[in-house]
Amino acid sequence: MKVLGISGSLRRNSYNTKLLRAAEELLPAVVEFELWDGLKAIPPYDEDDDVEPAPQPVAALRAAIREADVLLFATPEYNASVPGQLKNAIDWASRPPATSVLRNKPVVVIGASTGAFGAVWSQAELRKVLATAGARVVDAEVAVGHAHTKFDEDGQLVGEAIREQLVEVIETLLAELPASLLLEAV
Ligand SMILES: Cc1cc2nc3c(=O)[nH]c(=O)nc-3n(C[C@H](O)[C@H](O)[C@H](O)COP(=O)(O)O)c2cc1C
Repeated sequence: MKVLGISGSLRRNSYNTKLLRAAEELLPAVVEFELWDGLKAIPPYDEDDDVEPAPQPVAALRAAIREADVLLFATPEYNASVPGQLKNAIDWASRPPATSVLRNKPVVVIGASTGAFGAVWSQAELRKVLATAGARVVDAEVAVGHAHTKFDEDGQLVGEAIREQLVEVIETLLAELPASLLLEAV
């Protein structure tokens, strides 16, 4: 039973990556969590390159998504939208449309930004993109505004409000895991 965490930020001290780590800590031990670290290696999407075998970083991304039961995205907001490199990776993952690894995949989108609203526009755009790619977007949201004030030096979330929202999101996410898998793990 596996959750794949995908941060839309490449930054070493990314608040979105920290948010995923905070979410990981709230997952029950039976759930495996992998933080995908291949975003920077994904080449620019070019339909001429979208052939079999796929470029290695793309093949690795598609395999990681295929093996996950749920995807947990944490996205920053860049100019009111999704960071280009994240959108680019999703474009690769979305092909071929009929059999893509995103089709029917449960996905949860959360996000953090240093602005006041916690990447809500970017999250909305990301949900739209993922839904268009055929993913099953779960109705859940965590919007960490003023993110530079919400984590301590160890990367831990400061304050209870966001943690409580994260707990709710994790509960919603767990409900997406196949019941049979949860029963097997008990
Ligand atoms: C190119 C660029 C555009 C940005 N645009 C927005 C924006 O539209 N809204 C916002 O709240 N923050 C914006 N920011 C600030 C980000 O929220 C901030 O850099 C945040 O820390 C990025 O997430 P990360 O910590 O996970 O890297 C922008 C940052 C960059 C680099």
